[in-house]
Amino acid sequence: MKTDREAVVWTRCGNAPLKMGRFTVTATECRFSYEADYIDSALPGLGVLYKPDFVGTTTIAWKRSPYFDFLPQLQTLIPPASEDNFQRQLILSYLAQQSQMPEPGFESDWAILMVSGHGGIGHLDVFSDDEQAHDWYNDRRTPELFPVKNEFGFSLKEFLTWLDDSAGTLLETLGPTPSVGGAIPKLLLSIPREGWDGRIGLPTRGTVKGRTDIVLKFEKNTYPGIVELEALALDLHREAGFDVPRHWTTEINGMPAIAVERYDRDASNRPLFTETLYSVLATGDSRITHHYSSSYDAIGHAIDRSPIPIVSEPMQAKLHLLKRLLMSFATGNGDLHLENLSLIQCGEHICFSPVYDPTPMRAYSRHDMLSVMPFGNYGELDANDSPIDFNSAVLRLSKNLGVNRNALNEMLEDVLQVTADYEQRVQALSSLPDENKTHLSDITRSMRKKLNALLMT
Ligand SMILES: Nc1ncnc2c1ncn2[C@@H]1O[C@H](COP(=O)(O)OP(=O)(O)O)[C@@H](O)[C@H]1O
Ligand SMILES: [Mg+2]
Repeated sequence: MKTDREAVVWTRCGNAPLKMGRFTVTATECRFSYEADYIDSALPGLGVLYKPDFVGTTTIAWKRSPYFDFLPQLQTLIPPASEDNFQRQLILSYLAQQSQMPEPGFESDWAILMVSGHGGIGHLDVFSDDEQAHDWYNDRRTPELFPVKNEFGFSLKEFLTWLDDSAGTLLETLGPTPSVGGAIPKLLLSIPREGWDGRIGLPTRGTVKGRTDIVLKFEKNTYPGIVELEALALDLHREAGFDVPRHWTTEINGMPAIAVERYDRDASNRPLFTETLYSVLATGDSRITHHYSSSYDAIGHAIDRSPIPIVSEPMQAKLHLLKRLLMSFATGNGDLHLENLSLIQCGEHICFSPVYDPTPMRAYSRHDMLSVMPFGNYGELDANDSPIDFNSAVLRLSKNLGVNRNALNEMLEDVLQVTADYEQRVQALSSLPDENKTHLSDITRSMRKKLNALLMT
Protein backbone atom coordinates (compact mmCIF):
# COMPACT_ATOMS: atom_id res chain seq x y z
CA MET A 1 0.00 0.00 0.00
CA LYS A 2 1.48 3.32 -1.04
CA THR A 3 0.05 5.70 1.53
CA ASP A 4 -2.05 5.54 4.68
CA ARG A 5 -5.80 5.65 4.16
CA GLU A 6 -8.13 7.65 6.33
CA ALA A 7 -11.87 7.61 6.81
CA VAL A 8 -14.50 8.53 9.39
CA VAL A 9 -17.20 6.66 11.30
CA TRP A 10 -20.56 8.24 12.04
CA THR A 11 -23.76 6.90 13.50
CA ARG A 12 -27.37 7.97 13.69
CA CYS A 13 -28.20 5.75 16.66
CA GLY A 14 -28.64 8.91 18.79
CA ASN A 15 -31.08 11.75 18.22
CA ALA A 16 -29.14 13.10 15.27
CA PRO A 17 -26.20 11.89 13.17
CA LEU A 18 -23.02 12.13 15.20
CA LYS A 19 -19.38 11.52 14.39
CA MET A 20 -18.10 8.57 16.39
CA GLY A 21 -14.47 8.67 15.36
CA ARG A 22 -11.95 8.23 12.60
CA PHE A 23 -9.64 5.50 11.43
CA THR A 24 -6.41 5.17 9.53
CA VAL A 25 -5.15 2.07 7.78
CA THR A 26 -1.37 1.91 7.59
CA ALA A 27 0.76 -0.85 6.07
CA THR A 28 0.54 -2.79 9.33
CA GLU A 29 -2.38 -1.45 11.38
CA CYS A 30 -5.94 -0.23 11.40
CA ARG A 31 -6.07 2.56 13.99
CA PHE A 32 -9.33 3.95 15.35
CA SER A 33 -9.94 6.83 17.77
CA TYR A 34 -13.18 8.05 19.30
CA GLU A 35 -14.14 11.72 19.20
CA ALA A 36 -14.18 13.25 22.69
CA ASP A 37 -17.77 14.50 22.13
CA TYR A 38 -18.85 11.04 21.18
CA ILE A 39 -17.56 9.56 24.43
CA ASP A 40 -19.59 12.17 26.31
CA SER A 41 -22.73 11.25 24.40
CA ALA A 42 -22.88 7.85 26.17
CA LEU A 43 -24.02 6.25 22.90
CA PRO A 44 -22.88 2.73 21.98
CA GLY A 45 -19.45 2.40 20.44
CA LEU A 46 -17.77 0.49 17.67
CA GLY A 47 -18.25 -2.89 19.34
CA VAL A 48 -19.15 -4.36 22.74
CA LEU A 49 -15.49 -4.78 23.63
CA TYR A 50 -14.67 -1.22 22.60
CA LYS A 51 -16.94 0.68 24.97
CA PRO A 52 -16.31 4.41 24.41
CA ASP A 53 -16.03 5.30 28.10
CA PHE A 54 -13.60 2.41 28.59
CA VAL A 55 -11.40 3.11 25.56
CA GLY A 56 -11.55 6.90 25.95
CA THR A 57 -9.54 8.89 23.44
CA THR A 58 -6.76 6.30 23.38
CA THR A 59 -6.23 5.04 19.82
CA ILE A 60 -7.20 1.42 19.25
CA ALA A 61 -4.35 -0.13 17.24
CA TRP A 62 -5.50 -3.25 15.41
CA LYS A 63 -2.72 -5.30 13.85
CA ARG A 64 -3.67 -6.16 10.27
CA SER A 65 -3.76 -9.89 9.51
CA PRO A 66 -4.46 -11.98 6.42
CA TYR A 67 -8.02 -12.29 7.78
CA PHE A 68 -8.71 -8.78 9.01
CA ASP A 69 -7.23 -5.71 7.30
CA PHE A 70 -9.68 -3.69 9.37
CA LEU A 71 -11.05 -3.82 12.87
CA PRO A 72 -13.64 -6.63 12.78
CA GLN A 73 -16.52 -4.14 13.24
CA LEU A 74 -15.43 -2.32 10.06
CA GLN A 75 -14.47 -5.44 8.12
CA THR A 76 -18.06 -6.69 8.58
CA LEU A 77 -19.27 -3.80 6.44
CA ILE A 78 -17.39 -5.14 3.39
CA PRO A 79 -19.05 -7.98 1.49
CA PRO A 80 -16.47 -10.77 1.41
CA ALA A 81 -14.48 -11.42 -1.74
CA SER A 82 -15.97 -14.46 -3.39
CA GLU A 83 -16.84 -14.82 -7.05
CA ASP A 84 -20.54 -15.10 -6.48
CA ASN A 85 -21.04 -12.38 -3.93
CA PHE A 86 -23.93 -10.37 -5.29
CA GLN A 87 -23.38 -7.23 -3.24
CA ARG A 88 -19.70 -7.08 -4.05
CA GLN A 89 -20.22 -7.55 -7.79
CA LEU A 90 -22.90 -4.91 -7.69
CA ILE A 91 -20.68 -2.30 -6.09
CA LEU A 92 -17.68 -3.14 -8.27
CA SER A 93 -19.86 -2.71 -11.38
CA TYR A 94 -21.05 0.60 -10.01
CA LEU A 95 -17.44 1.70 -9.46
CA ALA A 96 -16.51 0.54 -12.97
CA GLN A 97 -19.30 2.72 -14.37
CA GLN A 98 -17.53 5.61 -12.70
CA SER A 99 -14.21 4.50 -14.22
CA GLN A 100 -12.90 3.23 -10.91
CA MET A 101 -11.24 -0.16 -11.30
CA PRO A 102 -9.50 -0.87 -8.00
CA GLU A 103 -7.00 -3.74 -7.82
CA PRO A 104 -8.36 -6.91 -6.23
CA GLY A 105 -7.72 -7.26 -2.50
CA PHE A 106 -7.29 -4.34 -0.18
CA GLU A 107 -7.72 -1.65 -2.86
CA SER A 108 -11.11 -3.09 -3.80
CA ASP A 109 -12.15 -3.54 -0.19
CA TRP A 110 -11.36 0.06 0.54
CA ALA A 111 -13.23 1.38 -2.51
CA ILE A 112 -16.24 -0.80 -1.62
CA LEU A 113 -16.19 0.36 2.00
CA MET A 114 -16.30 4.01 0.91
CA VAL A 115 -19.31 3.39 -1.35
CA SER A 116 -21.34 1.02 0.75
CA GLY A 117 -19.96 1.27 4.29
CA HIS A 118 -22.93 3.38 5.35
CA GLY A 119 -26.65 2.81 5.65
CA GLY A 120 -26.21 -0.96 5.94
CA ILE A 121 -26.89 -3.41 8.74
CA GLY A 122 -26.24 -2.00 12.19
CA HIS A 123 -25.38 1.37 13.60
CA LEU A 124 -22.01 2.13 11.99
CA ASP A 125 -21.70 4.40 8.95
CA VAL A 126 -18.30 4.74 7.29
CA PHE A 127 -17.59 7.69 4.99
CA SER A 128 -14.44 8.95 3.29
CA ASP A 129 -14.76 12.25 5.13
CA ASP A 130 -17.15 14.40 7.17
CA GLU A 131 -18.40 16.21 4.09
CA GLN A 132 -19.56 12.96 2.51
CA ALA A 133 -21.28 12.13 5.81
CA HIS A 134 -23.08 15.49 5.93
CA ASP A 135 -24.21 15.18 2.30
CA TRP A 136 -25.47 11.67 2.86
CA TYR A 137 -27.40 12.41 6.04
CA ASN A 138 -28.83 15.65 4.63
CA ASP A 139 -30.60 13.77 1.87
CA ARG A 140 -33.73 13.05 3.85
CA ARG A 141 -36.16 12.65 0.95
CA THR A 142 -38.78 10.08 1.79
CA PRO A 143 -37.91 7.16 -0.44
CA GLU A 144 -40.72 6.61 -2.88
CA LEU A 145 -42.53 3.29 -2.92
CA PHE A 146 -42.70 1.47 -6.26
CA PRO A 147 -44.77 -1.55 -7.11
CA VAL A 148 -42.05 -4.13 -7.39
CA LYS A 149 -43.19 -5.65 -10.69
CA ASN A 150 -43.24 -2.42 -12.69
CA GLU A 151 -40.06 -1.09 -11.29
CA PHE A 152 -38.05 -4.24 -11.78
CA GLY A 153 -38.85 -4.02 -15.46
CA PHE A 154 -36.18 -6.54 -16.29
CA SER A 155 -35.57 -10.09 -15.33
CA LEU A 156 -34.08 -10.27 -11.88
CA LYS A 157 -33.12 -13.80 -12.72
CA GLU A 158 -30.69 -12.39 -15.23
CA PHE A 159 -29.01 -10.20 -12.64
CA LEU A 160 -28.13 -13.12 -10.60
CA THR A 161 -26.18 -14.67 -13.44
CA TRP A 162 -23.72 -11.81 -13.15
CA LEU A 163 -24.14 -10.20 -16.53
CA ASP A 164 -22.28 -6.91 -16.25
CA ASP A 165 -25.01 -4.83 -17.78
CA SER A 166 -27.69 -6.09 -15.51
CA ALA A 167 -25.94 -4.93 -12.35
CA GLY A 168 -25.86 -1.51 -14.00
CA THR A 169 -29.58 -1.58 -14.63
CA LEU A 170 -30.26 -2.56 -11.06
CA LEU A 171 -28.13 0.30 -9.83
CA GLU A 172 -30.00 2.72 -12.05
CA THR A 173 -33.17 1.51 -10.45
CA LEU A 174 -32.16 1.25 -6.86
CA GLY A 175 -29.06 3.40 -6.53
CA PRO A 176 -25.93 2.03 -4.89
CA THR A 177 -27.87 0.15 -2.27
CA PRO A 178 -26.06 -0.55 0.94
CA SER A 179 -24.99 -4.12 1.25
CA VAL A 180 -24.95 -7.05 3.63
CA GLY A 181 -22.40 -9.80 3.84
CA GLY A 182 -23.28 -13.42 3.10
CA ALA A 183 -23.66 -15.63 0.11
CA ILE A 184 -27.27 -15.23 -0.95
CA PRO A 185 -28.36 -12.20 -2.98
CA LYS A 186 -29.92 -9.71 -0.65
CA LEU A 187 -31.17 -6.18 -0.95
CA LEU A 188 -31.91 -3.72 1.83
CA LEU A 189 -35.22 -2.02 1.15
CA SER A 190 -38.20 -0.48 2.89
CA ILE A 191 -41.87 -1.46 2.66
CA PRO A 192 -45.16 -0.20 4.16
CA ARG A 193 -45.17 -0.71 7.93
CA GLU A 194 -48.33 -2.80 7.75
CA GLY A 195 -46.39 -5.39 5.81
CA TRP A 196 -45.40 -6.59 2.36
CA ASP A 197 -47.92 -5.54 -0.30
CA GLY A 198 -45.72 -5.76 -3.37
CA ARG A 199 -44.35 -2.23 -3.09
CA ILE A 200 -40.74 -1.45 -2.22
CA GLY A 201 -38.61 1.62 -1.65
CA LEU A 202 -35.02 2.38 -0.83
CA PRO A 203 -34.06 1.92 2.83
CA THR A 204 -35.02 4.76 5.17
CA ARG A 205 -32.43 7.28 6.27
CA GLY A 206 -34.37 8.72 9.19
CA THR A 207 -37.88 8.44 10.57
CA VAL A 208 -40.39 7.74 7.80
CA LYS A 209 -43.92 7.36 9.07
CA GLY A 210 -45.65 4.19 8.03
CA ARG A 211 -42.51 2.59 6.69
CA THR A 212 -40.36 -0.29 7.91
CA ASP A 213 -36.97 -1.54 6.73
CA ILE A 214 -36.45 -5.06 5.45
CA VAL A 215 -33.84 -7.43 4.11
CA LEU A 216 -35.06 -9.02 0.86
CA LYS A 217 -33.37 -12.35 0.18
CA PHE A 218 -33.75 -14.04 -3.20
CA GLU A 219 -33.66 -17.74 -3.83
CA LYS A 220 -30.62 -18.93 -5.75
CA ASN A 221 -30.97 -21.78 -8.23
CA THR A 222 -28.47 -23.80 -6.23
CA TYR A 223 -30.84 -23.92 -3.25
CA PRO A 224 -34.32 -24.62 -4.61
CA GLY A 225 -37.00 -24.22 -1.94
CA ILE A 226 -34.76 -22.32 0.46
CA VAL A 227 -37.12 -19.37 0.81
CA GLU A 228 -39.97 -21.58 1.98
CA LEU A 229 -37.62 -23.44 4.30
CA GLU A 230 -36.31 -20.24 5.87
CA ALA A 231 -39.88 -19.04 6.47
CA LEU A 232 -40.81 -22.34 8.10
CA ALA A 233 -37.72 -22.26 10.32
CA LEU A 234 -38.49 -18.68 11.38
CA ASP A 235 -42.06 -19.72 12.28
CA LEU A 236 -40.82 -22.67 14.32
CA HIS A 237 -38.44 -20.45 16.26
CA ARG A 238 -41.27 -18.09 17.06
CA GLU A 239 -43.33 -21.06 18.28
CA ALA A 240 -40.37 -22.08 20.44
CA GLY A 241 -40.53 -18.72 22.19
CA PHE A 242 -37.77 -16.82 20.39
CA ASP A 243 -38.07 -13.27 19.25
CA VAL A 244 -38.47 -13.51 15.46
CA PRO A 245 -38.88 -10.63 13.00
CA ARG A 246 -41.98 -10.42 10.82
CA HIS A 247 -41.42 -11.96 7.41
CA TRP A 248 -43.24 -12.43 4.12
CA THR A 249 -42.56 -14.79 1.26
CA THR A 250 -43.23 -13.65 -2.25
CA GLU A 251 -42.26 -14.14 -5.87
CA ILE A 252 -40.59 -11.45 -7.90
CA ASN A 253 -40.43 -12.03 -11.64
CA GLY A 254 -40.65 -15.73 -11.07
CA MET A 255 -38.02 -15.76 -8.33
CA PRO A 256 -39.03 -16.76 -4.81
CA ALA A 257 -37.96 -14.20 -2.22
CA ILE A 258 -38.38 -13.60 1.49
CA ALA A 259 -38.69 -10.16 3.05
CA VAL A 260 -37.56 -10.09 6.68
CA GLU A 261 -38.13 -7.04 8.85
CA ARG A 262 -34.90 -5.44 10.15
CA TYR A 263 -34.31 -6.02 13.86
CA ASP A 264 -31.52 -3.45 13.87
CA ARG A 265 -33.98 -0.57 13.41
CA ASP A 266 -36.41 0.68 16.06
CA ALA A 267 -40.02 1.81 15.52
CA SER A 268 -38.79 5.19 14.27
CA ASN A 269 -36.36 3.58 11.81
CA ARG A 270 -33.42 4.48 14.01
CA PRO A 271 -30.41 2.13 13.97
CA LEU A 272 -29.77 -0.01 17.01
CA PHE A 273 -26.32 -1.15 18.08
CA THR A 274 -25.65 -4.63 16.73
CA GLU A 275 -22.58 -6.81 16.33
CA THR A 276 -22.11 -10.42 15.19
CA LEU A 277 -20.48 -12.88 17.58
CA TYR A 278 -17.81 -13.32 14.94
CA SER A 279 -16.85 -9.67 15.30
CA VAL A 280 -17.02 -9.76 19.12
CA LEU A 281 -14.86 -12.86 19.45
CA ALA A 282 -12.37 -11.83 16.75
CA THR A 283 -11.87 -8.56 18.63
CA GLY A 284 -10.74 -10.42 21.71
CA ASP A 285 -8.80 -13.30 20.14
CA SER A 286 -6.58 -13.24 17.05
CA ARG A 287 -7.11 -16.99 16.57
CA ILE A 288 -10.67 -16.28 15.44
CA THR A 289 -10.19 -16.10 11.68
CA HIS A 290 -13.37 -17.73 10.34
CA HIS A 291 -17.02 -17.87 11.33
CA TYR A 292 -16.44 -21.44 12.59
CA SER A 293 -13.24 -20.68 14.56
CA SER A 294 -14.88 -20.90 17.97
CA SER A 295 -16.99 -23.44 19.82
CA TYR A 296 -20.24 -22.91 21.72
CA ASP A 297 -18.32 -23.77 24.88
CA ALA A 298 -15.84 -21.00 24.11
CA ILE A 299 -18.66 -18.51 23.52
CA GLY A 300 -20.01 -19.38 26.99
CA HIS A 301 -16.55 -19.00 28.42
CA ALA A 302 -16.13 -15.58 26.79
CA ILE A 303 -19.54 -14.50 28.16
CA ASP A 304 -18.44 -15.52 31.68
CA ARG A 305 -14.87 -14.34 31.62
CA SER A 306 -14.67 -11.25 29.46
CA PRO A 307 -13.35 -8.33 31.53
CA ILE A 308 -15.78 -6.10 29.61
CA PRO A 309 -19.28 -7.58 29.74
CA ILE A 310 -20.32 -9.02 26.37
CA VAL A 311 -23.98 -9.39 27.37
CA SER A 312 -25.98 -7.87 30.22
CA GLU A 313 -27.59 -11.12 31.43
CA PRO A 314 -24.99 -13.91 31.09
CA MET A 315 -27.21 -16.81 32.19
CA GLN A 316 -30.07 -15.75 29.94
CA ALA A 317 -27.64 -15.46 27.05
CA LYS A 318 -26.19 -18.91 27.64
CA LEU A 319 -29.66 -20.47 27.84
CA HIS A 320 -30.54 -18.72 24.58
CA LEU A 321 -27.40 -20.08 22.96
CA LEU A 322 -28.06 -23.65 24.06
CA LYS A 323 -31.67 -23.58 22.96
CA ARG A 324 -30.73 -22.13 19.58
CA LEU A 325 -28.29 -25.00 19.15
CA LEU A 326 -30.89 -27.61 20.14
CA MET A 327 -33.40 -26.04 17.74
CA SER A 328 -30.84 -26.15 14.96
CA PHE A 329 -30.26 -29.87 15.63
CA ALA A 330 -33.99 -30.56 15.56
CA THR A 331 -34.65 -28.55 12.40
CA GLY A 332 -31.64 -29.70 10.39
CA ASN A 333 -29.76 -26.41 10.49
CA GLY A 334 -26.02 -26.97 10.34
CA ASP A 335 -25.25 -23.33 9.79
CA LEU A 336 -25.60 -21.68 13.19
CA HIS A 337 -22.10 -20.25 13.10
CA LEU A 338 -20.65 -17.06 14.58
CA GLU A 339 -22.04 -14.82 11.84
CA ASN A 340 -25.55 -16.12 12.31
CA LEU A 341 -25.57 -15.07 15.95
CA SER A 342 -25.60 -11.39 16.86
CA LEU A 343 -25.90 -9.15 19.85
CA ILE A 344 -28.13 -6.12 19.94
CA GLN A 345 -28.88 -3.22 22.22
CA CYS A 346 -32.26 -3.63 23.90
CA GLY A 347 -32.91 -0.57 26.05
CA GLU A 348 -29.96 -0.36 28.42
CA HIS A 349 -29.07 -3.99 27.86
CA ILE A 350 -26.99 -5.93 25.37
CA CYS A 351 -28.58 -9.27 24.53
CA PHE A 352 -28.88 -11.75 21.68
CA SER A 353 -30.66 -10.36 18.64
CA PRO A 354 -33.90 -11.77 17.30
CA VAL A 355 -33.47 -14.91 15.20
CA TYR A 356 -32.22 -14.55 11.62
CA ASP A 357 -30.99 -17.04 9.03
CA PRO A 358 -32.14 -20.22 10.86
CA THR A 359 -32.42 -22.00 7.50
CA PRO A 360 -32.21 -25.83 7.64
CA MET A 361 -29.21 -25.93 5.33
CA ARG A 362 -28.69 -29.64 5.90
CA ALA A 363 -31.50 -30.15 3.36
CA TYR A 364 -28.81 -29.45 0.76
CA SER A 365 -26.18 -32.17 0.72
CA ARG A 366 -23.20 -29.85 0.48
CA HIS A 367 -24.24 -28.20 3.72
CA ASP A 368 -25.19 -31.39 5.48
CA MET A 369 -22.80 -31.13 8.42
CA LEU A 370 -22.38 -29.75 11.91
CA SER A 371 -18.71 -28.85 11.57
CA VAL A 372 -19.17 -25.06 11.47
CA MET A 373 -20.74 -25.11 14.94
CA PRO A 374 -18.35 -27.03 17.24
CA PHE A 375 -19.78 -27.95 20.66
CA GLY A 376 -18.75 -30.11 23.62
CA ASN A 377 -15.75 -31.52 21.70
CA TYR A 378 -18.20 -33.52 19.57
CA GLY A 379 -16.32 -35.96 17.34
CA GLU A 380 -12.95 -35.29 18.96
CA LEU A 381 -11.01 -38.10 20.58
CA ASP A 382 -11.33 -38.57 24.33
CA ALA A 383 -8.60 -39.80 26.69
CA ASN A 384 -9.18 -43.39 25.48
CA ASP A 385 -8.91 -42.42 21.83
CA SER A 386 -12.60 -42.95 21.14
CA PRO A 387 -14.61 -40.16 19.52
CA ILE A 388 -16.88 -38.14 21.82
CA ASP A 389 -20.47 -38.98 20.87
CA PHE A 390 -23.42 -36.60 20.45
CA ASN A 391 -24.92 -37.34 23.85
CA SER A 392 -21.74 -36.73 25.81
CA ALA A 393 -20.95 -33.63 23.77
CA VAL A 394 -24.30 -31.95 24.49
CA LEU A 395 -23.99 -32.83 28.18
CA ARG A 396 -20.45 -31.49 28.24
CA LEU A 397 -21.52 -28.22 26.57
CA SER A 398 -24.49 -27.85 28.90
CA LYS A 399 -22.17 -28.28 31.88
CA ASN A 400 -19.67 -25.80 30.45
CA LEU A 401 -22.45 -23.27 30.06
CA GLY A 402 -23.54 -23.80 33.65
CA VAL A 403 -26.95 -25.13 32.61
CA ASN A 404 -28.18 -27.82 35.01
CA ARG A 405 -29.73 -31.10 33.95
CA ASN A 406 -33.29 -30.03 34.76
CA ALA A 407 -33.03 -26.91 32.68
CA LEU A 408 -31.49 -28.88 29.81
CA ASN A 409 -34.27 -31.46 29.95
CA GLU A 410 -36.96 -28.79 29.95
CA MET A 411 -35.36 -27.25 26.91
CA LEU A 412 -35.12 -30.61 25.16
CA GLU A 413 -38.79 -31.32 25.83
CA ASP A 414 -39.75 -27.91 24.54
CA VAL A 415 -37.69 -28.25 21.36
CA LEU A 416 -38.98 -31.77 20.67
CA GLN A 417 -42.55 -30.66 21.17
CA VAL A 418 -42.34 -27.56 18.97
CA THR A 419 -40.75 -29.60 16.19
CA ALA A 420 -42.97 -32.69 16.61
CA ASP A 421 -44.78 -32.17 13.29
CA TYR A 422 -41.76 -30.70 11.50
CA GLU A 423 -41.45 -33.61 9.10
CA GLN A 424 -45.05 -33.18 7.93
CA ARG A 425 -44.54 -29.45 7.57
CA VAL A 426 -41.45 -30.03 5.46
CA GLN A 427 -43.33 -32.55 3.30
CA ALA A 428 -46.11 -29.99 2.80
CA LEU A 429 -43.76 -27.37 1.32
CA SER A 430 -44.46 -26.71 -2.34
CA SER A 431 -41.12 -25.76 -3.87
CA LEU A 432 -38.57 -27.84 -1.96
CA PRO A 433 -37.64 -30.77 -4.28
CA ASP A 434 -38.64 -34.23 -3.10
CA GLU A 435 -35.09 -35.45 -2.72
CA ASN A 436 -34.31 -32.56 -0.34
CA LYS A 437 -37.51 -33.25 1.60
CA THR A 438 -36.52 -36.87 2.01
CA HIS A 439 -32.97 -35.98 2.96
CA LEU A 440 -34.05 -33.40 5.54
CA SER A 441 -36.66 -35.76 6.98
CA ASP A 442 -34.05 -38.49 7.38
CA ILE A 443 -31.71 -36.12 9.17
CA THR A 444 -34.31 -34.67 11.51
CA ARG A 445 -35.69 -38.11 12.33
CA SER A 446 -32.25 -39.27 13.35
CA MET A 447 -31.60 -36.06 15.30
CA ARG A 448 -34.92 -36.46 17.15
CA LYS A 449 -33.87 -39.96 18.09
CA LYS A 450 -30.62 -38.62 19.52
CA LEU A 451 -32.35 -35.79 21.38
CA ASN A 452 -34.92 -38.22 22.78
CA ALA A 453 -32.15 -40.58 23.89
CA LEU A 454 -30.41 -37.69 25.60
CA LEU A 455 -33.59 -36.81 27.44
CA MET A 456 -33.80 -40.41 28.71
CA THR A 457 -30.19 -40.69 29.94
N1 LIG B 1 -33.80 -9.23 9.78
C1 LIG B 1 -32.58 -8.72 9.85
N2 LIG B 1 -32.36 -7.54 10.47
C2 LIG B 1 -31.12 -7.03 10.55
N3 LIG B 1 -30.02 -7.63 10.06
C3 LIG B 1 -30.17 -8.80 9.44
C4 LIG B 1 -31.45 -9.42 9.31
N4 LIG B 1 -31.28 -10.59 8.65
C5 LIG B 1 -29.98 -10.68 8.39
N5 LIG B 1 -29.29 -9.63 8.87
C6 LIG B 1 -27.84 -9.36 8.78
O1 LIG B 1 -27.39 -9.67 7.49
C7 LIG B 1 -26.40 -10.68 7.51
C8 LIG B 1 -26.66 -11.68 6.39
O2 LIG B 1 -27.99 -12.16 6.48
P1 LIG B 1 -28.35 -13.69 6.55
O3 LIG B 1 -29.83 -13.80 6.71
O4 LIG B 1 -27.51 -14.36 7.58
O5 LIG B 1 -27.96 -14.14 5.08
P2 LIG B 1 -27.08 -15.34 4.51
O6 LIG B 1 -28.07 -16.42 4.24
O7 LIG B 1 -26.50 -14.77 3.30
O8 LIG B 1 -26.07 -15.72 5.54
C9 LIG B 1 -26.53 -11.33 8.87
O9 LIG B 1 -25.30 -11.83 9.33
C10 LIG B 1 -27.05 -10.21 9.75
O10 LIG B 1 -25.97 -9.44 10.22
MG1 LIG C 1 -26.13 -15.87 7.50
